[in-house]
Amino acid sequence: MIILGIDTSFDETSVAVCDGVKVLSNVISSQVRYHKKYGGVVPFLTQRYHKERIDAVIEQALVRSGKTWKDIEAIAVTYGPGLAPALEVGLQKARELSLEHSLPLYPINHMAGHIASCFVQTGNSKQNVELPALALLVSGCHTELVRVERFGQFEMMGQTLDDALGEAYDKVARMLGLGYPGGRLVAKMAESGDPSRYNLPIPMQKRGDLNFSYSGLKTAVRMLTHTLKDGNHNQAMTAEQVHNVSATFQDVALASLVIKTQKALKQFPEAKTLLLAGGVAANTELRKRLRLVAKQAGIELIAPRNQALCTDNAAMIAVAGYLSIQEGAQPVKPEEIDRDPNLSL
Ligand code: KG4
Ligand code: ZN
Repeated sequence: MIILGIDTSFDETSVAVCDGVKVLSNVISSQVRYHKKYGGVVPFLTQRYHKERIDAVIEQALVRSGKTWKDIEAIAVTYGPGLAPALEVGLQKARELSLEHSLPLYPINHMAGHIASCFVQTGNSKQNVELPALALLVSGCHTELVRVERFGQFEMMGQTLDDALGEAYDKVARMLGLGYPGGRLVAKMAESGDPSRYNLPIPMQKRGDLNFSYSGLKTAVRMLTHTLKDGNHNQAMTAEQVHNVSATFQDVALASLVIKTQKALKQFPEAKTLLLAGGVAANTELRKRLRLVAKQAGIELIAPRNQALCTDNAAMIAVAGYLSIQEGAQPVKPEEIDRDPNLSL
């Protein structure tokens, strides 16, 4: 089944064409260069850039897939969670296209999309996701442990009480003067740092529940950077200090994910697979640690095939549409679909 997916939930304008779980094209136009100078995404600007790019991105996705409108059988579009003005651009376009080409329209939860990114097939690679599964979703706005009984039957086991891990990475990058988006940059610095050089607390380690919290750690990093700068007579931190702070932050932040995931697996022994998704799933150290967690539980870790499938993209939305249809989802009328910025799983 050929599905066109659209995602404009945040700062990427993305359109993809998928055949079942197989990606035919996945075009992502990032707004990073516009938001960079502000050190983060400026919500009211997102809509303008999505509007400017959406038609060209749709066109490119069709051309690269080798398909035309005659081949497309359904449209899947993100309706939440995300920034309201940004979501509206993708939704409005999906409504128009659904009417123009008489195509069924499926509204998709962006976080279900991230879960679907683990099912996405690229080239000849096969992702054999056995359900039920435990999913760990770590993005710029979410940190969640989700029980996946079937696709669409999700139950939240734990979530962040304040900041998401991706957001904490971005804030730490800013404190260290590394730029935006910061996750990848902090991870890179951490590679050559000493994670035991400073003492930072592992967040929520002693709490019995499966929730996360990263604001305390963020504050601890801020205090540490101030202390280090004071020690340098208020000059910038040395490169070695930046490497070590990055490594220490990443070490305790990931330790918290590992501890909670192990706890969740104990509460959900039926899980046959551990799924890892969201922008932070691109982190090599996180994948390494979770692979070990899965191995210890006698199950397999499945994460998206590449970086582009970890961060926001429309292939995961098209595949979420396909998996929902397989589970019996019904299309909605274009006029009935509305954005839901605070939607949860
Ligand atoms: O899923 P995503 O594209 O957007 C949301 O839906 O929020 O996630 C973006 C987040 C950003 O915070 C970014 O810094 C983080 O993912 N990220 C990483 C890495 N690559 C992206 N964090 C840690 N290590 C990485 N390699
Ligand atoms: Zn996302």
